[in-house]
Amino acid sequence: MIPFSDPSASYQAHKSEIDLAIKRVLDSGWYVLGSEVDAFEKEFASFHGKDLHAVGVANGTDAIALCLRCLGLEAGDEVITPSHTAVATVAGIEQAYCTPVFADIEPISKCIDPKSIVKRISAKTRAIMPVHIYGQPSAMKSILEIAEYHHLEVIEDCSQAHGSEIDGQKVGTFAKLSAYSCYPTKNLGGTGDGGVILCQSQEFADKIKSLRQYGWNEKRESTIPGFNSRLDELQAAILRVKLRYLSDDNKKRRTIAKMYSQAFNHLPITLPSQNTNEVHAMHLYVIECEQRDELLESLRSKKVGASLHYPLAVHQHAAYANRIRGGDDLPMTESFYNKNLTLPMYPELPNEKVEEIITSVKSWF
Ligand SMILES: Cc1ncc(COP(=O)(O)O)c(C=O)c1O
Repeated sequence: MIPFSDPSASYQAHKSEIDLAIKRVLDSGWYVLGSEVDAFEKEFASFHGKDLHAVGVANGTDAIALCLRCLGLEAGDEVITPSHTAVATVAGIEQAYCTPVFADIEPISKCIDPKSIVKRISAKTRAIMPVHIYGQPSAMKSILEIAEYHHLEVIEDCSQAHGSEIDGQKVGTFAKLSAYSCYPTKNLGGTGDGGVILCQSQEFADKIKSLRQYGWNEKRESTIPGFNSRLDELQAAILRVKLRYLSDDNKKRRTIAKMYSQAFNHLPITLPSQNTNEVHAMHLYVIECEQRDELLESLRSKKVGASLHYPLAVHQHAAYANRIRGGDDLPMTESFYNKNLTLPMYPELPNEKVEEIITSVKSWF
């Protein structure tokens, strides 16, 4: 089976550097929040631009909760977000005791629809959390305008979009705070759980550094109630290696996406949107097809690890059904979930496998 993602191929591609990094950490005897985390934070911030700060945390879900806590959001404060996302986005909002509210998605980008955001704003709304789904940037200009007009915070969920750009500006740098997962399958993924928060101010970075470790100050006194959400040195050392290859790896993903899109151009399927002013990180290559289930079955029978991202939108899961405001009015999201299908996508996917996948798709029609 050709997998849809292959973290072990990423390890093999950078094995000698990763092995050295692991040895360096094991020999150091310092395993959690140390010099590797410090260096990763600096390198991750400077990858995104000047005068930014980054804070390593335990995973992307915690990153979301920590951003909300850092901004002072409290129990009952509403955060508008899409239901077309990983469950983790919504779990992170609830982990911070905030109330998620679902907005619909745009038909082309599949990211949160600014018009739907405006419809959902209430007296309790405090923040908007766009998700750059599959690596496709959200409409940040409109979202920031809405936020400014209604005095709302914006937190970008960049877990699927490390390195995506709009007009030359990397996603994650539009909002004061942005959350990233570094789970192994992500464009920047470690070999275990990990996450990072990008901050525009030193003040926020300091607050998150305190929140991620019991609300401690330098004297280890808890000055605010906090979490345990530390990044370990092994993950940080591995992520430092991977970060050096991120731009290159993203280019390889886009080359594969181009091969797919050119080959499927005349088929009755909807291809991922690609705008000329944007850089798409191509975390996932997701098409829409009316006979999705039949195509999925056929591809799997031909050993192509096609998959669904996701089988259900968040509001369709039992844990969230009928209790999140906005969940009863998501026509675009629901239509997309009847048709979405993910094809294999990772930088090390060999050309001959891409051709094999293309042949399997084309021969089905
Ligand atoms: C859009 C999105 N947000 C948040 C997360 C949460 O990340 P983690 O699994 O590291 O907690 C993920 C990862 O699955 C994600 O894809």
